[in-house]
Amino acid sequence: ADYETIKVEQHGRVTLITLDRPNALNALNSQVLADLLDAMAAFDADPEQGCAVITGSEKAFAAGADIKEMQAQGFADMYGSDFFAGWDRFTRTRKPVIAAVAGYALGGGCELAMMCDFILAADTAKFGQPEIKLAVSPGMGGSQRLTRAVGKAKAMEMCLTGRMMDAEEAERAGLVSRIIPAADLVEEAVKTATTIASMAPLAVLANKEMVNAAFETGLQQGVQFERRLFHGLFGTEDQAEGMSAFVEKREGQWKGK
Ligand code: HXC
Repeated sequence: ADYETIKVEQHGRVTLITLDRPNALNALNSQVLADLLDAMAAFDADPEQGCAVITGSEKAFAAGADIKEMQAQGFADMYGSDFFAGWDRFTRTRKPVIAAVAGYALGGGCELAMMCDFILAADTAKFGQPEIKLAVSPGMGGSQRLTRAVGKAKAMEMCLTGRMMDAEEAERAGLVSRIIPAADLVEEAVKTATTIASMAPLAVLANKEMVNAAFETGLQQGVQFERRLFHGLFGTEDQAEGMSAFVEKREGQWKGK
């Protein structure tokens, strides 16, 4: 499909989505949301696709929600339309999604990156929740996901001052999994996604689901959830194949069942 605000390419089993509103530093307006939701639904439903990468430009992953779109809105508009609720659907994507962030990931841009399963950062990446400077606050999950990712002290300071974190600080704080030289970011992200997409598909879904459960449950309940999913994978043909392939010193051939 052709989209107005994003570019979608397939690299083998990897879907690469590039935010493409260069004149607005990829600010996330309702068209970007609609385009992304459509592309993500197609990706999730396609058995030939195993992992997605979302990236922006060298200058900006995304500089936030679109301020010009929100400027004239009042409480009744925002509350009445449950503005930003559509992003919940993005987070229900079952297959893994990697954010590959170069340049600015601010406000909604930082929040979108945090909705992905993990963040690979270029050495040029800058993360921030500067909404307070506009007399508002994060609205796409930033106060919750940033706090879970980096802890209260840094999350509180960033939301209250609007200051940015560079890639080094973001890695130290656990916001990003790795830093990559900017010139290699997308290639390395696609390579990482290709590795994930080469794994047995049901095991990929289960691994994502159980890590995410850590944010929704107590420890006992989370460990039990993990164990039940682990038991469930022993009902798949791919488990038998994976273990036989190891014993026979060959690569597993997955069926996705
Ligand atoms: C709409 C935006 C935008 C945004 C940038 N632009 N960010 N348009 N929404 N969030 C537009 C600018 O208006 C400008 O358009 C063009 O993109 C280039 O931006 P410049 O500011 O000229 O670039 P530069 O000087 O390099 O500065 C980069 C920047 C700055 C530091 C990232 O653009 C910036 O501070 N942006 C806003 C960051 C922010 O506050 N984000 C949070 C948004 S609120 P023209 O037409 O002038 O060329 C949010 C959370 C939602 O995301 C929760 C409720 C609010």
